[in-house]
Amino acid sequence: MQDIIRQLEEKRDQARLGGGQKRIDAQHGKGKLTARERIELLLDPGSFEEWDMFVEHTCTDFGMAGQRIPGDGVVTGYGTINGRLVFVFSQDFTVFGGSLSDSHARKICKIMDKAMQVGAPVIGLNDSGGARIQEGVDSLAGYAEVFQRNVLASGVVPQISVIMGPCAGGAVYSPAMTDFIFMVKDSSYMFVTGPDVVKTVTQEVVTQEQLGGAITHTTRSSVADVAFENDIETLNQIRRFFDFLPLSNREKPPVRPSNDDPARQEPSLDTLVPANPNKPYDMIELIGKVVDEGDFFELQPSFAKNIVTGFARLDGATVGIVANQPMVLAGCLDIDSSRKAARFVRFCDCFNIPIVTFVDVPGFLPGTAQEYGGIIKHGAKLLFAFAEATVPKVTLITRKAYGGAYDVMSSKHLRGDVNFAWPSAEIAVMGPKGAVEIIFRAELDDKAKIEARTEEYRAKFANPFVAGRRGFIDDVIMPHNTRHRLIRALAMLRDKKLENPWKKHDNIPL
Ligand code: HXC
Repeated sequence: MQDIIRQLEEKRDQARLGGGQKRIDAQHGKGKLTARERIELLLDPGSFEEWDMFVEHTCTDFGMAGQRIPGDGVVTGYGTINGRLVFVFSQDFTVFGGSLSDSHARKICKIMDKAMQVGAPVIGLNDSGGARIQEGVDSLAGYAEVFQRNVLASGVVPQISVIMGPCAGGAVYSPAMTDFIFMVKDSSYMFVTGPDVVKTVTQEVVTQEQLGGAITHTTRSSVADVAFENDIETLNQIRRFFDFLPLSNREKPPVRPSNDDPARQEPSLDTLVPANPNKPYDMIELIGKVVDEGDFFELQPSFAKNIVTGFARLDGATVGIVANQPMVLAGCLDIDSSRKAARFVRFCDCFNIPIVTFVDVPGFLPGTAQEYGGIIKHGAKLLFAFAEATVPKVTLITRKAYGGAYDVMSSKHLRGDVNFAWPSAEIAVMGPKGAVEIIFRAELDDKAKIEARTEEYRAKFANPFVAGRRGFIDDVIMPHNTRHRLIRALAMLRDKKLENPWKKHDNIPL
Protein backbone atom coordinates (compact mmCIF):
# COMPACT_ATOMS: atom_id res chain seq x y z
CA MET A 1 0.00 0.00 0.00
CA GLN A 2 2.77 2.42 0.99
CA ASP A 3 4.38 1.57 -2.30
CA ILE A 4 1.29 2.42 -4.30
CA ILE A 5 0.89 5.72 -2.46
CA ARG A 6 4.52 6.56 -3.18
CA GLN A 7 4.05 5.68 -6.85
CA LEU A 8 0.88 7.77 -6.94
CA GLU A 9 2.70 10.78 -5.55
CA GLU A 10 5.57 10.27 -7.94
CA LYS A 11 3.21 10.11 -10.89
CA ARG A 12 1.36 13.20 -9.72
CA ASP A 13 4.65 15.08 -9.33
CA GLN A 14 5.72 13.96 -12.77
CA ALA A 15 2.41 15.06 -14.28
CA ARG A 16 2.59 18.42 -12.54
CA LEU A 17 6.07 18.97 -13.94
CA GLY A 18 4.77 18.42 -17.50
CA GLY A 19 7.63 18.60 -19.97
CA GLY A 20 10.13 19.55 -17.25
CA GLN A 21 11.49 22.67 -15.59
CA LYS A 22 13.47 23.75 -18.64
CA ARG A 23 10.41 23.83 -20.82
CA ILE A 24 8.36 25.50 -18.07
CA ASP A 25 11.03 28.21 -17.90
CA ALA A 26 10.87 28.57 -21.67
CA GLN A 27 7.10 28.95 -21.45
CA HIS A 28 7.47 31.64 -18.79
CA GLY A 29 10.20 33.23 -20.89
CA LYS A 30 7.64 33.79 -23.64
CA GLY A 31 5.39 35.57 -21.15
CA LYS A 32 3.05 32.59 -21.02
CA LEU A 33 1.75 30.73 -17.99
CA THR A 34 1.70 26.96 -17.84
CA ALA A 35 -1.46 24.93 -18.37
CA ARG A 36 -1.92 24.41 -14.64
CA GLU A 37 -1.17 28.00 -13.67
CA ARG A 38 -3.85 29.07 -16.13
CA ILE A 39 -6.43 26.76 -14.61
CA GLU A 40 -5.59 28.08 -11.16
CA LEU A 41 -6.29 31.62 -12.29
CA LEU A 42 -9.42 30.70 -14.22
CA LEU A 43 -11.20 28.69 -11.55
CA ASP A 44 -12.19 29.44 -7.97
CA PRO A 45 -9.32 28.58 -5.59
CA GLY A 46 -9.28 24.89 -4.69
CA SER A 47 -12.28 24.05 -6.90
CA PHE A 48 -10.46 22.14 -9.63
CA GLU A 49 -11.08 18.41 -9.83
CA GLU A 50 -8.60 16.96 -12.25
CA TRP A 51 -9.35 13.90 -14.36
CA ASP A 52 -7.05 11.62 -16.28
CA MET A 53 -3.80 12.77 -14.79
CA PHE A 54 -2.40 9.31 -15.45
CA VAL A 55 -3.40 9.01 -19.08
CA GLU A 56 -0.44 8.43 -21.37
CA HIS A 57 -0.12 8.18 -25.11
CA THR A 58 0.03 4.77 -26.75
CA CYS A 59 2.41 5.58 -29.59
CA THR A 60 5.52 3.45 -29.98
CA ASP A 61 6.90 4.83 -33.24
CA PHE A 62 9.78 7.31 -33.52
CA GLY A 63 11.10 6.50 -30.06
CA MET A 64 7.86 7.56 -28.40
CA ALA A 65 7.63 4.40 -26.27
CA GLY A 66 10.33 5.82 -24.03
CA GLN A 67 8.77 9.27 -23.77
CA ARG A 68 5.59 9.08 -21.80
CA ILE A 69 4.45 11.92 -19.62
CA PRO A 70 1.41 11.42 -17.37
CA GLY A 71 -1.44 13.57 -18.59
CA ASP A 72 -0.10 13.63 -22.14
CA GLY A 73 -0.08 17.34 -22.77
CA VAL A 74 -3.51 18.38 -21.63
CA VAL A 75 -4.92 19.05 -18.18
CA THR A 76 -8.66 18.32 -17.97
CA GLY A 77 -11.37 18.38 -15.35
CA TYR A 78 -14.02 20.57 -13.83
CA GLY A 79 -14.32 23.28 -11.21
CA THR A 80 -16.22 26.46 -10.56
CA ILE A 81 -16.12 30.11 -11.54
CA ASN A 82 -17.76 32.22 -8.85
CA GLY A 83 -19.40 29.04 -7.61
CA ARG A 84 -20.81 27.91 -10.98
CA LEU A 85 -19.80 24.65 -12.61
CA VAL A 86 -17.53 24.60 -15.65
CA PHE A 87 -15.48 21.98 -17.49
CA VAL A 88 -12.01 22.91 -18.62
CA PHE A 89 -9.18 21.61 -20.73
CA SER A 90 -5.85 23.32 -20.80
CA GLN A 91 -3.21 22.26 -23.28
CA ASP A 92 0.30 21.97 -21.93
CA PHE A 93 2.79 23.30 -24.45
CA THR A 94 5.67 21.89 -22.40
CA VAL A 95 4.59 18.35 -23.27
CA PHE A 96 5.25 17.59 -26.94
CA GLY A 97 4.31 21.18 -27.73
CA GLY A 98 0.78 20.59 -26.45
CA SER A 99 0.25 18.50 -29.57
CA LEU A 100 -2.90 16.43 -29.80
CA SER A 101 -2.49 12.65 -29.57
CA ASP A 102 -5.24 10.08 -29.57
CA SER A 103 -5.09 9.97 -25.75
CA HIS A 104 -5.03 13.76 -25.47
CA ALA A 105 -8.16 13.93 -27.64
CA ARG A 106 -9.93 11.28 -25.57
CA LYS A 107 -9.36 13.36 -22.45
CA ILE A 108 -10.96 16.39 -24.06
CA CYS A 109 -13.87 14.32 -25.38
CA LYS A 110 -14.48 12.85 -21.93
CA ILE A 111 -15.06 16.24 -20.32
CA MET A 112 -17.12 17.45 -23.28
CA ASP A 113 -19.41 14.44 -23.01
CA LYS A 114 -19.88 14.98 -19.30
CA ALA A 115 -20.42 18.71 -19.73
CA MET A 116 -23.26 18.00 -22.16
CA GLN A 117 -24.82 15.42 -19.83
CA VAL A 118 -24.78 17.61 -16.75
CA GLY A 119 -25.35 20.89 -18.56
CA ALA A 120 -22.24 22.99 -17.94
CA PRO A 121 -20.06 25.08 -20.26
CA VAL A 122 -16.71 23.99 -21.63
CA ILE A 123 -13.74 26.33 -21.66
CA GLY A 124 -10.76 25.26 -23.75
CA LEU A 125 -7.38 26.86 -23.16
CA ASN A 126 -5.57 26.20 -26.42
CA ASP A 127 -1.79 26.15 -26.67
CA SER A 128 -0.77 23.45 -29.10
CA GLY A 129 1.49 22.60 -32.00
CA GLY A 130 -1.46 20.75 -33.60
CA ALA A 131 -1.69 17.11 -34.53
CA ARG A 132 0.89 14.89 -32.73
CA ILE A 133 3.06 14.30 -35.74
CA GLN A 134 4.37 10.94 -34.51
CA GLU A 135 0.85 9.53 -34.33
CA GLY A 136 -0.33 10.33 -37.83
CA VAL A 137 -3.91 9.47 -38.56
CA ASP A 138 -4.70 8.58 -34.93
CA SER A 139 -4.21 12.23 -34.12
CA LEU A 140 -6.40 13.34 -37.01
CA ALA A 141 -9.09 10.96 -35.78
CA GLY A 142 -8.77 12.53 -32.35
CA TYR A 143 -9.37 15.99 -33.78
CA ALA A 144 -12.44 14.80 -35.63
CA GLU A 145 -13.83 13.31 -32.42
CA VAL A 146 -13.45 16.70 -30.78
CA PHE A 147 -15.01 18.47 -33.80
CA GLN A 148 -18.01 16.16 -33.69
CA ARG A 149 -18.56 16.99 -30.04
CA ASN A 150 -18.18 20.71 -30.68
CA VAL A 151 -21.06 20.44 -33.10
CA LEU A 152 -23.24 18.31 -30.83
CA ALA A 153 -22.59 20.61 -27.87
CA SER A 154 -23.38 23.72 -29.92
CA GLY A 155 -26.58 25.22 -28.54
CA VAL A 156 -26.58 22.78 -25.61
CA VAL A 157 -23.81 24.23 -23.45
CA PRO A 158 -21.80 27.40 -24.06
CA GLN A 159 -18.34 26.65 -25.45
CA ILE A 160 -15.54 29.16 -25.02
CA SER A 161 -12.14 28.94 -26.67
CA VAL A 162 -9.18 30.84 -25.37
CA ILE A 163 -6.18 30.88 -27.68
CA MET A 164 -3.04 31.22 -25.59
CA GLY A 165 -0.35 30.00 -27.96
CA PRO A 166 -0.19 28.36 -31.35
CA CYS A 167 -3.35 27.01 -32.93
CA ALA A 168 -2.71 26.02 -36.51
CA GLY A 169 -3.83 23.75 -39.31
CA GLY A 170 -7.06 21.82 -38.92
CA ALA A 171 -6.79 22.42 -35.17
CA VAL A 172 -8.32 25.86 -35.68
CA TYR A 173 -11.64 24.31 -36.55
CA SER A 174 -12.43 23.24 -33.04
CA PRO A 175 -12.32 26.79 -31.67
CA ALA A 176 -14.04 27.99 -34.83
CA MET A 177 -17.08 25.91 -33.97
CA THR A 178 -17.30 27.11 -30.39
CA ASP A 179 -19.37 30.12 -29.38
CA PHE A 180 -16.63 32.58 -28.49
CA ILE A 181 -12.92 32.89 -29.16
CA PHE A 182 -10.66 35.05 -27.02
CA MET A 183 -6.99 35.59 -27.86
CA VAL A 184 -3.90 36.83 -26.07
CA LYS A 185 -2.00 39.62 -27.82
CA ASP A 186 1.51 38.82 -29.09
CA SER A 187 1.56 35.20 -27.86
CA SER A 188 -1.29 33.51 -29.69
CA TYR A 189 -2.03 32.90 -33.33
CA MET A 190 -4.44 30.95 -35.46
CA PHE A 191 -4.12 30.03 -39.12
CA VAL A 192 -5.01 27.18 -41.42
CA THR A 193 -1.61 27.32 -43.12
CA GLY A 194 1.40 29.09 -41.64
CA PRO A 195 3.65 31.79 -43.13
CA ASP A 196 6.01 29.27 -44.80
CA VAL A 197 3.26 27.52 -46.73
CA VAL A 198 1.70 30.86 -47.61
CA LYS A 199 5.02 32.00 -49.04
CA THR A 200 5.42 28.85 -51.11
CA VAL A 201 1.92 28.91 -52.51
CA THR A 202 1.11 32.60 -52.93
CA GLN A 203 4.57 34.20 -52.65
CA GLU A 204 3.20 36.47 -49.91
CA VAL A 205 5.64 37.26 -47.14
CA VAL A 206 3.84 37.61 -43.86
CA THR A 207 4.67 37.11 -40.20
CA GLN A 208 2.78 34.80 -37.87
CA GLU A 209 1.39 37.83 -36.09
CA GLN A 210 0.20 39.49 -39.29
CA LEU A 211 -1.29 36.28 -40.60
CA GLY A 212 -3.11 35.08 -37.53
CA GLY A 213 -2.33 37.12 -34.44
CA ALA A 214 -4.89 38.49 -32.01
CA ILE A 215 -5.09 41.88 -33.72
CA THR A 216 -5.64 40.31 -37.14
CA HIS A 217 -8.45 38.12 -35.91
CA THR A 218 -10.22 40.75 -33.84
CA THR A 219 -10.01 43.58 -36.38
CA ARG A 220 -9.93 41.98 -39.84
CA SER A 221 -11.14 38.42 -40.00
CA SER A 222 -13.54 38.54 -37.02
CA VAL A 223 -12.55 34.98 -36.20
CA ALA A 224 -11.92 36.03 -32.60
CA ASP A 225 -14.11 38.14 -30.34
CA VAL A 226 -11.74 39.99 -28.05
CA ALA A 227 -7.96 40.32 -27.71
CA PHE A 228 -6.46 40.77 -24.26
CA GLU A 229 -3.02 41.94 -23.20
CA ASN A 230 -1.66 38.86 -21.46
CA ASP A 231 -2.60 35.53 -19.86
CA ILE A 232 -3.62 37.06 -16.55
CA GLU A 233 -5.88 39.72 -17.99
CA THR A 234 -7.40 37.16 -20.35
CA LEU A 235 -8.28 34.68 -17.61
CA ASN A 236 -9.70 37.41 -15.37
CA GLN A 237 -11.87 38.63 -18.22
CA ILE A 238 -13.07 35.10 -18.99
CA ARG A 239 -14.22 34.84 -15.36
CA ARG A 240 -16.11 38.12 -15.77
CA PHE A 241 -17.58 36.95 -19.07
CA PHE A 242 -18.61 33.57 -17.69
CA ASP A 243 -20.83 35.23 -15.08
CA PHE A 244 -23.14 36.49 -17.83
CA LEU A 245 -23.81 33.06 -19.31
CA PRO A 246 -26.36 30.43 -18.40
CA LEU A 247 -24.77 27.04 -17.81
CA SER A 248 -26.80 25.33 -20.52
CA ASN A 249 -29.82 25.64 -22.79
CA ARG A 250 -31.93 24.20 -19.99
CA GLU A 251 -31.34 27.22 -17.78
CA LYS A 252 -32.51 30.77 -17.67
CA PRO A 253 -29.76 33.37 -17.64
CA PRO A 254 -28.13 33.92 -14.26
CA VAL A 255 -29.36 36.67 -11.97
CA ARG A 256 -26.86 38.54 -9.83
CA PRO A 257 -28.05 40.85 -7.08
CA SER A 258 -27.54 44.43 -8.17
CA ASN A 259 -27.36 47.65 -6.20
CA ASP A 260 -28.42 49.64 -9.22
CA ASP A 261 -32.00 50.87 -8.71
CA PRO A 262 -34.25 49.38 -11.41
CA ALA A 263 -36.19 52.65 -11.48
CA ARG A 264 -33.07 54.79 -11.76
CA GLN A 265 -33.68 57.75 -14.06
CA GLU A 266 -30.95 59.01 -16.34
CA PRO A 267 -31.69 62.66 -17.22
CA SER A 268 -28.61 62.92 -19.43
CA LEU A 269 -30.30 60.57 -21.92
CA ASP A 270 -32.85 63.30 -22.68
CA THR A 271 -30.13 65.28 -24.43
CA LEU A 272 -28.01 62.46 -25.82
CA VAL A 273 -29.53 62.45 -29.30
CA PRO A 274 -28.48 65.65 -31.11
CA ALA A 275 -31.17 67.82 -32.69
CA ASN A 276 -29.42 67.54 -36.05
CA PRO A 277 -30.29 64.07 -37.41
CA ASN A 278 -26.96 63.89 -39.21
CA LYS A 279 -24.92 64.32 -36.05
CA PRO A 280 -23.75 61.13 -34.38
CA TYR A 281 -23.73 60.22 -30.70
CA ASP A 282 -22.16 57.27 -28.93
CA MET A 283 -24.45 54.28 -28.59
CA ILE A 284 -22.02 52.66 -26.14
CA GLU A 285 -22.49 55.66 -23.83
CA LEU A 286 -26.25 55.09 -24.01
CA ILE A 287 -25.86 51.41 -23.15
CA GLY A 288 -23.57 52.23 -20.22
CA LYS A 289 -26.16 54.61 -18.79
CA VAL A 290 -29.00 52.12 -18.99
CA VAL A 291 -27.56 48.80 -17.82
CA ASP A 292 -26.75 47.72 -14.26
CA GLU A 293 -23.71 49.54 -12.91
CA GLY A 294 -22.66 50.45 -16.44
CA ASP A 295 -21.20 46.96 -16.78
CA PHE A 296 -21.18 46.01 -20.44
CA PHE A 297 -19.08 43.15 -21.84
CA GLU A 298 -18.67 44.07 -25.46
CA LEU A 299 -18.01 41.35 -28.02
CA GLN A 300 -16.13 42.04 -31.23
CA PRO A 301 -15.48 45.65 -30.14
CA SER A 302 -12.88 46.16 -32.86
CA PHE A 303 -14.77 44.69 -35.80
CA ALA A 304 -17.79 46.08 -37.66
CA LYS A 305 -18.04 48.87 -35.14
CA ASN A 306 -21.22 50.13 -36.82
CA ILE A 307 -23.03 47.56 -34.73
CA VAL A 308 -22.46 46.93 -31.04
CA THR A 309 -23.01 43.51 -29.46
CA GLY A 310 -22.43 42.25 -25.95
CA PHE A 311 -23.81 41.25 -22.60
CA ALA A 312 -25.04 43.36 -19.74
CA ARG A 313 -27.53 43.01 -16.90
CA LEU A 314 -30.85 44.67 -16.27
CA ASP A 315 -32.15 44.30 -12.72
CA GLY A 316 -29.50 41.63 -12.20
CA ALA A 317 -30.42 39.36 -15.13
CA THR A 318 -28.28 38.91 -18.22
CA VAL A 319 -29.43 40.45 -21.47
CA GLY A 320 -27.84 40.38 -24.91
CA ILE A 321 -27.54 43.83 -26.42
CA VAL A 322 -27.54 44.60 -30.13
CA ALA A 323 -27.26 48.26 -31.08
CA ASN A 324 -26.54 50.30 -34.17
CA GLN A 325 -23.63 52.68 -33.60
CA PRO A 326 -24.27 56.07 -35.26
CA MET A 327 -20.61 57.00 -34.72
CA VAL A 328 -19.45 54.51 -37.39
CA LEU A 329 -20.83 54.53 -40.94
CA ALA A 330 -23.83 56.36 -39.45
CA GLY A 331 -24.83 53.03 -37.92
CA CYS A 332 -25.92 51.48 -41.21
CA LEU A 333 -26.03 47.75 -41.73
CA ASP A 334 -23.44 46.16 -43.98
CA ILE A 335 -22.04 42.70 -44.56
CA ASP A 336 -19.76 42.60 -41.54
CA SER A 337 -22.19 44.11 -39.05
CA SER A 338 -25.00 41.82 -40.20
CA ARG A 339 -22.85 38.72 -39.77
CA LYS A 340 -21.53 39.88 -36.43
CA ALA A 341 -24.93 40.63 -34.96
CA ALA A 342 -26.64 37.58 -36.47
CA ARG A 343 -24.28 35.19 -34.76
CA PHE A 344 -24.73 37.02 -31.47
CA VAL A 345 -28.52 36.97 -31.72
CA ARG A 346 -28.43 33.23 -32.40
CA PHE A 347 -26.25 32.62 -29.37
CA CYS A 348 -28.70 34.51 -27.17
CA ASP A 349 -31.62 32.59 -28.63
CA CYS A 350 -29.88 29.22 -28.06
CA PHE A 351 -29.33 30.04 -24.42
CA ASN A 352 -32.55 31.79 -23.42
CA ILE A 353 -30.95 35.21 -23.10
CA PRO A 354 -33.40 38.08 -23.76
CA ILE A 355 -32.33 40.45 -26.50
CA VAL A 356 -32.48 44.21 -26.08
CA THR A 357 -32.08 46.05 -29.38
CA PHE A 358 -31.28 49.75 -29.66
CA VAL A 359 -32.06 51.04 -33.12
CA ASP A 360 -30.62 54.00 -34.95
CA VAL A 361 -30.17 52.78 -38.49
CA PRO A 362 -30.33 54.77 -41.72
CA GLY A 363 -30.51 51.61 -43.86
CA PHE A 364 -28.16 49.19 -45.58
CA LEU A 365 -24.80 50.45 -46.85
CA PRO A 366 -25.00 51.05 -50.61
CA GLY A 367 -22.25 50.22 -53.10
CA THR A 368 -20.76 47.66 -55.43
CA ALA A 369 -18.45 46.31 -52.72
CA GLN A 370 -21.46 45.44 -50.63
CA GLU A 371 -23.56 44.03 -53.45
CA TYR A 372 -20.71 41.96 -54.94
CA GLY A 373 -19.82 40.81 -51.45
CA GLY A 374 -23.32 39.42 -51.03
CA ILE A 375 -25.02 41.90 -48.71
CA ILE A 376 -28.29 40.32 -49.78
CA LYS A 377 -27.34 36.98 -48.24
CA HIS A 378 -25.43 38.44 -45.30
CA GLY A 379 -28.08 40.99 -44.41
CA ALA A 380 -30.58 38.15 -44.52
CA LYS A 381 -28.63 36.42 -41.77
CA LEU A 382 -29.51 39.12 -39.28
CA LEU A 383 -33.10 39.28 -40.46
CA PHE A 384 -33.34 35.50 -40.16
CA ALA A 385 -31.71 35.46 -36.74
CA PHE A 386 -34.07 38.05 -35.26
CA ALA A 387 -37.09 36.47 -36.92
CA GLU A 388 -36.43 32.95 -35.67
CA ALA A 389 -35.50 34.05 -32.12
CA THR A 390 -38.15 33.12 -29.57
CA VAL A 391 -36.47 34.65 -26.52
CA PRO A 392 -37.92 37.88 -25.08
CA LYS A 393 -37.18 40.69 -27.51
CA VAL A 394 -37.39 44.30 -26.42
CA THR A 395 -36.57 47.02 -28.93
CA LEU A 396 -36.01 50.73 -28.55
CA ILE A 397 -35.79 53.05 -31.55
CA THR A 398 -33.74 56.03 -30.46
CA ARG A 399 -33.64 57.87 -33.76
CA LYS A 400 -33.60 56.54 -37.32
CA ALA A 401 -35.29 53.33 -38.34
CA TYR A 402 -35.35 53.47 -42.10
CA GLY A 403 -36.30 51.00 -44.76
CA GLY A 404 -35.53 47.31 -44.64
CA ALA A 405 -33.19 47.93 -41.75
CA TYR A 406 -36.21 49.03 -39.66
CA ASP A 407 -37.80 45.65 -40.31
CA VAL A 408 -34.57 43.77 -39.58
CA MET A 409 -33.75 45.37 -36.25
CA SER A 410 -36.11 43.31 -34.10
CA SER A 411 -39.21 45.13 -35.30
CA LYS A 412 -42.71 44.34 -34.13
CA HIS A 413 -43.23 42.44 -37.38
CA LEU A 414 -40.46 39.97 -36.47
CA ARG A 415 -42.23 39.13 -33.23
CA GLY A 416 -40.65 41.92 -31.22
CA ASP A 417 -42.41 41.61 -27.86
CA VAL A 418 -42.16 45.18 -26.68
CA ASN A 419 -41.19 47.91 -29.11
CA PHE A 420 -40.47 51.33 -27.69
CA ALA A 421 -39.45 54.56 -29.35
CA TRP A 422 -37.99 57.76 -28.01
CA PRO A 423 -39.70 60.99 -29.09
CA SER A 424 -36.70 61.54 -31.41
CA ALA A 425 -37.53 58.39 -33.44
CA GLU A 426 -38.00 58.66 -37.20
CA ILE A 427 -39.57 55.60 -38.77
CA ALA A 428 -39.86 55.71 -42.53
CA VAL A 429 -38.96 54.01 -45.78
CA MET A 430 -35.98 56.34 -46.09
CA GLY A 431 -34.68 59.74 -44.96
CA PRO A 432 -36.76 62.79 -45.99
CA LYS A 433 -34.21 64.07 -48.52
CA GLY A 434 -33.85 60.80 -50.40
CA ALA A 435 -37.57 60.18 -50.31
CA VAL A 436 -38.47 63.57 -51.78
CA GLU A 437 -35.84 63.30 -54.51
CA ILE A 438 -37.55 60.15 -55.70
CA ILE A 439 -41.23 60.89 -55.35
CA PHE A 440 -40.97 64.50 -56.52
CA ARG A 441 -38.32 64.00 -59.18
CA ALA A 442 -40.17 66.30 -61.58
CA GLU A 443 -39.84 69.20 -59.16
CA LEU A 444 -36.12 68.74 -58.51
CA ASP A 445 -35.13 71.99 -60.22
CA ASP A 446 -37.38 74.04 -57.97
CA LYS A 447 -35.32 74.28 -54.81
CA ALA A 448 -37.95 76.03 -52.75
CA LYS A 449 -40.57 73.48 -53.66
CA ILE A 450 -38.26 70.59 -52.85
CA GLU A 451 -37.43 72.12 -49.50
CA ALA A 452 -41.12 72.47 -48.73
CA ARG A 453 -41.73 68.86 -49.77
CA THR A 454 -38.84 67.69 -47.63
CA GLU A 455 -40.27 69.52 -44.65
CA GLU A 456 -43.67 68.02 -45.36
CA TYR A 457 -42.17 64.53 -45.48
CA ARG A 458 -40.15 65.15 -42.33
CA ALA A 459 -43.20 66.42 -40.46
CA LYS A 460 -45.16 63.36 -41.52
CA PHE A 461 -42.62 60.61 -40.93
CA ALA A 462 -39.78 61.95 -38.80
CA ASN A 463 -41.55 61.01 -35.61
CA PRO A 464 -42.69 57.86 -33.87
CA PHE A 465 -46.44 58.49 -34.17
CA VAL A 466 -47.17 57.05 -37.60
CA ALA A 467 -45.78 53.70 -36.43
CA GLY A 468 -47.45 54.28 -33.05
CA ARG A 469 -50.84 54.70 -34.69
CA ARG A 470 -50.49 51.31 -36.32
CA GLY A 471 -49.41 49.63 -33.10
CA PHE A 472 -45.92 48.90 -34.47
CA ILE A 473 -44.58 50.86 -31.51
CA ASP A 474 -46.09 49.97 -28.16
CA ASP A 475 -45.18 53.21 -26.49
CA VAL A 476 -43.14 56.36 -26.88
CA ILE A 477 -41.02 56.67 -23.76
CA MET A 478 -38.99 59.44 -22.24
CA PRO A 479 -35.27 58.75 -22.60
CA HIS A 480 -34.61 59.28 -18.88
CA ASN A 481 -37.02 56.43 -18.08
CA THR A 482 -35.44 53.94 -20.47
CA ARG A 483 -33.87 51.70 -17.86
CA HIS A 484 -37.06 51.42 -15.84
CA ARG A 485 -39.24 50.72 -18.88
CA LEU A 486 -36.87 48.06 -20.26
CA ILE A 487 -36.69 46.34 -16.90
CA ARG A 488 -40.47 46.27 -16.56
CA ALA A 489 -40.86 44.88 -20.06
CA LEU A 490 -38.31 42.16 -19.37
CA ALA A 491 -39.96 41.28 -16.06
CA MET A 492 -43.28 40.90 -17.85
CA LEU A 493 -41.61 38.64 -20.43
CA ARG A 494 -39.75 36.46 -17.96
CA ASP A 495 -41.94 33.41 -18.54
CA LYS A 496 -42.62 34.01 -22.22
CA LYS A 497 -43.38 30.85 -24.17
CA LEU A 498 -43.09 30.79 -27.93
CA GLU A 499 -42.12 27.93 -30.18
CA ASN A 500 -41.26 27.79 -33.84
CA PRO A 501 -42.87 25.08 -35.99
CA TRP A 502 -41.27 21.65 -35.70
CA LYS A 503 -38.36 21.13 -38.04
CA LYS A 504 -35.11 19.22 -38.10
CA HIS A 505 -33.30 22.53 -38.27
CA ASP A 506 -33.70 25.68 -40.28
CA ASN A 507 -31.68 26.71 -43.29
CA ILE A 508 -30.27 30.11 -42.39
CA PRO A 509 -28.62 31.75 -45.42
CA LEU A 510 -24.96 30.94 -44.77
C1 HXC B 1 4.73 16.57 -31.88
C2 HXC B 1 5.50 18.68 -31.46
C3 HXC B 1 4.55 19.22 -32.35
C4 HXC B 1 3.67 18.33 -33.00
C5 HXC B 1 5.69 20.84 -31.54
N1 HXC B 1 6.18 19.70 -30.99
N2 HXC B 1 4.70 20.56 -32.38
N3 HXC B 1 5.57 17.36 -31.24
N4 HXC B 1 3.79 17.01 -32.74
N5 HXC B 1 2.75 18.78 -33.83
C6 HXC B 1 7.24 19.63 -30.02
C7 HXC B 1 8.58 19.99 -30.59
O1 HXC B 1 9.17 18.84 -31.16
C8 HXC B 1 9.32 20.45 -29.36
O2 HXC B 1 9.73 19.33 -28.63
C9 HXC B 1 8.25 21.12 -28.54
O3 HXC B 1 7.01 20.60 -29.03
C10 HXC B 1 8.24 22.60 -28.69
O4 HXC B 1 8.28 22.91 -30.07
P1 HXC B 1 9.27 24.01 -30.64
O5 HXC B 1 9.25 23.87 -32.10
O6 HXC B 1 10.58 23.92 -29.95
O7 HXC B 1 8.55 25.33 -30.16
P2 HXC B 1 8.40 26.71 -30.89
O8 HXC B 1 9.71 27.13 -31.46
O9 HXC B 1 7.72 27.61 -29.95
O10 HXC B 1 7.44 26.43 -32.14
C11 HXC B 1 6.10 26.06 -31.93
C12 HXC B 1 5.49 25.58 -33.25
C13 HXC B 1 6.35 24.49 -33.88
C14 HXC B 1 5.35 26.78 -34.18
C15 HXC B 1 4.07 25.08 -32.90
O11 HXC B 1 6.66 23.52 -32.90
C16 HXC B 1 5.70 23.84 -35.02
O12 HXC B 1 5.66 24.39 -36.14
N6 HXC B 1 5.20 22.62 -34.81
C17 HXC B 1 4.60 21.85 -35.84
C18 HXC B 1 3.27 22.40 -36.17
C19 HXC B 1 2.57 21.53 -37.15
O13 HXC B 1 2.91 21.50 -38.33
N7 HXC B 1 1.61 20.74 -36.64
C20 HXC B 1 0.83 19.90 -37.43
C21 HXC B 1 -0.20 20.81 -38.07
S1 HXC B 1 -1.33 19.88 -38.97
P3 HXC B 1 11.00 19.35 -27.67
O14 HXC B 1 11.12 17.94 -27.23
O15 HXC B 1 12.11 19.84 -28.50
O16 HXC B 1 10.65 20.28 -26.57
C22 HXC B 1 -2.51 19.67 -37.90
C23 HXC B 1 -3.60 18.91 -38.49
C24 HXC B 1 -4.78 18.93 -37.62
O17 HXC B 1 -2.49 20.03 -36.80
C25 HXC B 1 -5.83 18.33 -38.46
C26 HXC B 1 -7.14 18.35 -37.84
C27 HXC B 1 -8.16 18.00 -38.84
